[in-house]
Amino acid sequence: MNLALYREFRPKNFDEIIGQDYIVKTLKNQIKLDRLTHAYLFCGPRGTGKTSTAKIFAKAVNCTHSQDGNPCDMCAECVALSENNTDIVEIDAASNNRVEEVRDLREKVAFPPMIGKYKVYIIDEVHMLTDSAFNALLKTLEEPPKHVIFILATTEIHKLPATILSRCTRFDFKLLSIETLVDHLKNVFDAKQIKYDEKSLHLIAKAGEGSVRDMLSIADSVASFADYDISFEKTEKVIGLSNREGIKSILNAIARKDVAGLFESVKKVLGMGKNIQVLCKEMADFIKDLIMLKSGVGDYTILDILPGEFASYSEIAKLFDVGFLKSAFSKFAHIELDLKYSLNPENLFESACLDLINYDETPKKIEVKETVKTQVPTDLTPVKEISSEINEKEQSEIEKVWGNVLIKVKEKNMFAFANALMSVNKVEKIADKMIIHTNDSSSYDLIDNKDRIDVLLSLVKLFDDSIVEVIVEYDKENASSQDIKNDLKNIFKSKIKFKE
Ligand SMILES: Nc1ncnc2c1ncn2[C@@H]1O[C@H](COP(=O)(O)OP(=O)(O)OP(=O)(O)O)[C@@H](O)[C@H]1O
Ligand SMILES: [Mg+2]
Ligand SMILES: [Zn+2]
Repeated sequence: MNLALYREFRPKNFDEIIGQDYIVKTLKNQIKLDRLTHAYLFCGPRGTGKTSTAKIFAKAVNCTHSQDGNPCDMCAECVALSENNTDIVEIDAASNNRVEEVRDLREKVAFPPMIGKYKVYIIDEVHMLTDSAFNALLKTLEEPPKHVIFILATTEIHKLPATILSRCTRFDFKLLSIETLVDHLKNVFDAKQIKYDEKSLHLIAKAGEGSVRDMLSIADSVASFADYDISFEKTEKVIGLSNREGIKSILNAIARKDVAGLFESVKKVLGMGKNIQVLCKEMADFIKDLIMLKSGVGDYTILDILPGEFASYSEIAKLFDVGFLKSAFSKFAHIELDLKYSLNPENLFESACLDLINYDETPKKIEVKETVKTQVPTDLTPVKEISSEINEKEQSEIEKVWGNVLIKVKEKNMFAFANALMSVNKVEKIADKMIIHTNDSSSYDLIDNKDRIDVLLSLVKLFDDSIVEVIVEYDKENASSQDIKNDLKNIFKSKIKFKE
């Protein structure tokens, strides 16, 4: 069960916004003195109050009985605005990022507000707009009607063009201090009559890493797990060690190429109410520790490992080589942001883990003994096909080259390309040409592109400079991987998603 504390405790006025004192004070003053500008930019890390502040501000500028800059929540305007959102328009740029939508907005902006003095447009995640949409927005920002206020919000200020920045009054939201978070959490737990001890408060606040939303979603998990009676031991279980246990079991499944075990582990961790973005970040942190450990860092404090855990870390580190860990690290670091915009973050996370099951760090692992039926479907593991005409030694040389090339592609973070290359089930060298075979049509389409083939050739040359051309061939007659995908879909139902 999830309490969704962060929704329930969305601040309703400026005084309930914590830790952003300078911003709150300035905005309140602008309202009191009627010195509003027509475009604001709220930037800063996630879960620090940007959207909440924007919504309060939008109400406050229309409130006719505003008290100390706060919306009164009683006057006709406040009441109407709480029920009807025609004058406070929230636009999520992540899903409405096309130029037509911004043009549509430009037309609507011309109509006066229905309820109060101002129409307020809140454009969330504004950095997701396309270039042409930015240009359209810029035109609107240049000469907005008097009755319009824009509030642009973003976590990634560096992605905004200077032309937009220069037209907005900018406010930088800050990460919150542990003390501020602890106080807030205390109030939330008291209000919900959840029992706790001081040490647990600190642990939860620390795990929030400065974000109120992250802290409250972690608090959610802990409170549900502890059945409203939080102890340090239970908190630690949810946040600390047990977390790591979950991560370890996911990594173990990846090392064993155990697809079913992987889904089970992910399900178990998420079943504890863990937020998937937090899990992803912890995965990246954990893997980073493994990389440092393998690179010889022996200092527990740098590694963020409890001394008692050292042995189990070393154990898991042994399962992987640094090349694999590096690519796993960049994978999880890479999808962390995508998860936020994904309609199905669970699928995205699981598909990233599945990709890692595909990963083969040494060419040796390409061999799957023909006689042994493995649990892993063939489209998840490259299969070696021994061609009798070609000399065994030459064949193993070219496969070694291929294995190294795969590692390089992954190091370049070209995940879609790497994925497609995993479908290659036969590699040959004929004279000065390398011929790679796939029986997966969508992978073939992706690989058979001049730029990608050029990349491949340049990587192949690193390991065998006698090769002057790479050719990809589509083997129609071989069984298509679609059958296996269908089988997998049946087993895992909606849990599994393939790049189509
Ligand atoms: N400064 C804050 N004071 C009080 N609560 C906060 C604050 N920041 C975030 N929260 C809590 O987190 C929730 C989400 O906050 P909000 O949507 O304002 O964050 P945001 O900065 O817009 O995040 P994002 O960048 O992810 O959009 C709120 O409902 C509230 O519970
Ligand atoms: Mg927001
Ligand atoms: Zn009011």
